[in-house]
Amino acid sequence: MPSIIERYESTFATDRELSVQAQEIFPDGVTHDNRHADPFSVYISHADGSKKYTISGHELIDFWCGHGALLLSHNPPEVVKAVSARIGQGTHLGGSHQLEMEWGQWVKDLIPSAERVRFVNSGTEATLMAIRLARTFTGRNNVIKFAGHFHGWHDSVIPAARPPLDVPVPGIPGAVLDNTIVLPPNDIDAVRSHLESDPDVAILLIEPTGGGWGAVPCKPEFLADLRQVTSDHGVILLFDEVITGFRVSPGGAQAHYGITPDMTTMAKILAGGLPGGAVAGRADILDLISIKKTDVEKKMPHPGTFNANPLSASAGIATLKIASTGEPQAHANETAATLRHGIAKIIDDRNLGWGVYGEFSSFRIVFDHGIPGVRALEFDPFTFDHNRLKSPIRPDLARNLRCGMLLNGVDLPGTPITMAAHSGDDIQATLGAFETTLDWMKSDGLI
Ligand SMILES: Cc1ncc(COP(=O)(O)O)c(C=O)c1O
Repeated sequence: MPSIIERYESTFATDRELSVQAQEIFPDGVTHDNRHADPFSVYISHADGSKKYTISGHELIDFWCGHGALLLSHNPPEVVKAVSARIGQGTHLGGSHQLEMEWGQWVKDLIPSAERVRFVNSGTEATLMAIRLARTFTGRNNVIKFAGHFHGWHDSVIPAARPPLDVPVPGIPGAVLDNTIVLPPNDIDAVRSHLESDPDVAILLIEPTGGGWGAVPCKPEFLADLRQVTSDHGVILLFDEVITGFRVSPGGAQAHYGITPDMTTMAKILAGGLPGGAVAGRADILDLISIKKTDVEKKMPHPGTFNANPLSASAGIATLKIASTGEPQAHANETAATLRHGIAKIIDDRNLGWGVYGEFSSFRIVFDHGIPGVRALEFDPFTFDHNRLKSPIRPDLARNLRCGMLLNGVDLPGTPITMAAHSGDDIQATLGAFETTLDWMKSDGLI
């Protein structure tokens, strides 16, 4: 019987051909690090609801969900209608428009920290802007971030974002690196002791449910402690809600936990599946970009050709309107919980020694964690070395599971995420695909 990888190569032969051609255009043939796959990635022709389709017609239940940008699923009718109505009326108006006001008002209404809002084009731009604002506001230079937390790919935040966390990222000047302080997650004493010895910290950034969509999870009490300690030291607290904003709850993680940061960064769901991002926060900080209110030598410049693009605004408004009900989040959270339990049961029935963890609408499988006698859902990521949580302990298992799941009709990335259209049938089909893939992995001698 052919191995999983052999089957993958023959079933997705057309995708393989495209990927070879793509390597002549793009490094690795891909357009985002996470789209790189071994032996090659599949090519998607279109998507609808909870499904997407490869160019050779394979239907996949999608747990990647537009890198987390999709909460309402693919092509929600309200978003399709809003964007279709908009596209013939000008894609760039070169001026202010009412859609940006409506979009900004939704952000203000939903996100507790949002006294003022500024739109940008991505999460990376949002954290870049937030750091500049914090530096301008405080007159200080340093940035604190946590190991394993991802805030985009610009110089100040990319260190310790992707495994191996302790290997320096090339191409960043030493002087910039010196300004980024990486601390261990969930360790308030480390934060306190750093702040006591370093008066030059402008901002502390955190993914409020943990680094990498919760792969390196965060304790709610840590967030409360951070709120206190940053206030005590005059440091700007930023919740990076690029992934959690409008997903954890209509008001993001900050509304869920009842902790209000000074600034918030958003993207993904914010723009309803189109490109877009935002920085929101205290009026006295955001007003540093105000030409009217701020002296010229203190004003932080902030242009951006596509800021508040009307197509993104129309998709964002249609999405946030539905997200404000809390219904899609409740459904996505319930789906993820059912999957966590179903997958854990299958793992335990086979005594694989793997763990499953996660909360809200995502989860992670830990292969071969090596802790004897721990059932899958008893795996406690908080007691595990955080440096080992983000990359698979057994890359060979991760690779075969991914390929096997794709062959069985499921796109299951490292941190799967759920959305509103995932149905009971999708859950059952996913669990069935998981069982079949494990059977194949067993016959390939992997488990
Ligand atoms: C928490 C967080 N911050 C920032 C970013 C960067 O956003 P973008 O990919 O839009 O630049 C991401 C992207 O995954 C993210 O999850």
